[in-house]
Amino acid sequence: MLTGERSQDTPLEELWLDGAMPSEGDRAAARSLAARLGEFEGLRPFPAVVQELVEYIGRPDFKVDRVRQMIESDPALASRIMRVANSVAFRAYEPCTSVANAIVRIGATNLAHLSMAMAAMTFFKDLGGVGMRIRDHSAGTAAVARELAFRMGLSVVSSKVLLAGLLHDIGKLLMIQTGDHDYATSINQDLSPNTAHKREMQRLGFDHAMLGGHVLARWNLPEPLPQIVACHHQPQLLQGKAGVVPMAISTLRLADTIDWLLAQPQDPDPIVLKKLALSPDGVYAGFGEDTLRDLWDDLRTARAEARSLFR
Ligand SMILES: [Fe+2]
Ligand SMILES: [Fe+2]
Repeated sequence: MLTGERSQDTPLEELWLDGAMPSEGDRAAARSLAARLGEFEGLRPFPAVVQELVEYIGRPDFKVDRVRQMIESDPALASRIMRVANSVAFRAYEPCTSVANAIVRIGATNLAHLSMAMAAMTFFKDLGGVGMRIRDHSAGTAAVARELAFRMGLSVVSSKVLLAGLLHDIGKLLMIQTGDHDYATSINQDLSPNTAHKREMQRLGFDHAMLGGHVLARWNLPEPLPQIVACHHQPQLLQGKAGVVPMAISTLRLADTIDWLLAQPQDPDPIVLKKLALSPDGVYAGFGEDTLRDLWDDLRTARAEARSLFR
């Protein structure tokens, strides 16, 4: 269901099955995911001002001046937004000096959604070492994805991947919050982008991407964010598809791997970059090996800045 609408009654399977007939295993996964979702419904991490902001911006007749007042009523939120508006992610060639200016630079709707993502990042705070590592990885992935989308000239994709990057692994945090010690330990030992979801599928019948996507949908985060998050470990869903959502998923998947490579002590071997460029996501997003190499320092800078921004 990469292009369809999600309704309240959508069966849980549909967010990830892309219209295929669910097998008995899929149904069992959906049942256990539904049970797990119930545990997280009350965890909605958004402060009142952020919820009001998102609700207000959803109205067709919203006024920018009222948005400014709402943001300024929460000094912590206002100062965070000013930092983001002055970051590399928003091409801050000139300093942004007021909330009103930040609204113009980021856009009122983007800003409301960014406020939600920043609020959700507070989830990571009380989880000790693992949560911090996932938070840093999420911030890094968001910044890299945004930079990649910017280089492609896809501004519609870039606003989506910034939020999706921040929230893409929130399902891991939710799983950790259930107090599963073995899960927390295995995640802490191995944060590489393509292993955890396989273990989760074996163990639970669903993975952190599906869990995260469904919880974000229940929290009413805007489409297509839950879908992008739900599908970020299912590249097969992108085959033969075009559009903003598949491109956002592909860009996010590339950034997920690049954040991991940038975390390594040495620069990647040329063979690694070549493999990345020739991977289905590299080909889909259209990044050749040379382009990736040329971009590498900028990606590193954007990643470092985002990691400090979201701490
Ligand atoms: Fe993931
Ligand atoms: Fe990730």
